[in-house]
Amino acid sequence: MFRVVQISDTHIGRTRARFARNWAPLRDWIEGQKPDLVHHCGDLTLDGADDEADFELCAQLVGSLTTPFRVVPGNHDIGMPRNARQIVNDTRLARWCRYFGADRWFLDAEDWRLIGFNAMLLGSGRAEEEAQYSWLAARMAEAGSRRIAWFCHQPLFIHGFDDPDNGYWSVAPEPRLRLEALSKRFDIGLVCSGHLHRERQATIGDTQYVWCPSASFTVADAQSHLPGAAVLGAVILDFEGRTLRVRQVRLPALPHVWIEDVAAEIYPR
Ligand SMILES: [Fe+2]
Ligand SMILES: [Fe+2]
Repeated sequence: MFRVVQISDTHIGRTRARFARNWAPLRDWIEGQKPDLVHHCGDLTLDGADDEADFELCAQLVGSLTTPFRVVPGNHDIGMPRNARQIVNDTRLARWCRYFGADRWFLDAEDWRLIGFNAMLLGSGRAEEEAQYSWLAARMAEAGSRRIAWFCHQPLFIHGFDDPDNGYWSVAPEPRLRLEALSKRFDIGLVCSGHLHRERQATIGDTQYVWCPSASFTVADAQSHLPGAAVLGAVILDFEGRTLRVRQVRLPALPHVWIEDVAAEIYPR
């Protein structure tokens, strides 16, 4: 059995440090699960896209874990396409690489190949986006008979591949089409994402779509149209042979915060 403890959206900042306080109880809970891997689905930092101090702090905190750690970047870490205020750019990508290495990773465990990739490149038109599609196709092709698990920050869609443009909330339609085409060629058993700060699990065909909840805050009004639950938590993924057991876990040790109540403090505009 190979256990992944999946966390997301910790939004840890050094100056605006409200959610840095969540790290100690979160780390204690993680260690208690005895994972083989801790994976973070992005938005590790509160504002790493503009404040290097958040990267320094987060690198130090995740360095205190006793298990291997992998992370994919979120929009608050490196910016995102279609965002005039924090666009994904060379400076932000380079900063990510300095602190956390590559923005994509893979490993084989049981009869699975686990692949993390950078959703913040999707739809950017950057050369790295094309390179990532090629890398993804190659890593899946060489996986042979293994099942595939994808990990990325944004969900591919809210309801299904033929969703309209969900704007901020999911991968845009054009890159989504490319991922859909890729997914049809392989046995994708899991797509795990963060970003929405909501807990949800849905099965479409042979694929489980898991939304990992946040370990910092939830969103009320702006997400009233979205399915899933606005709770804080994490996910335990137990891979065994070709099977996968998914457990959504609530974390009562983390105080429940609505973004609407603290936005002026943590994301002043
Ligand atoms: Fe987030
Ligand atoms: Fe995000």
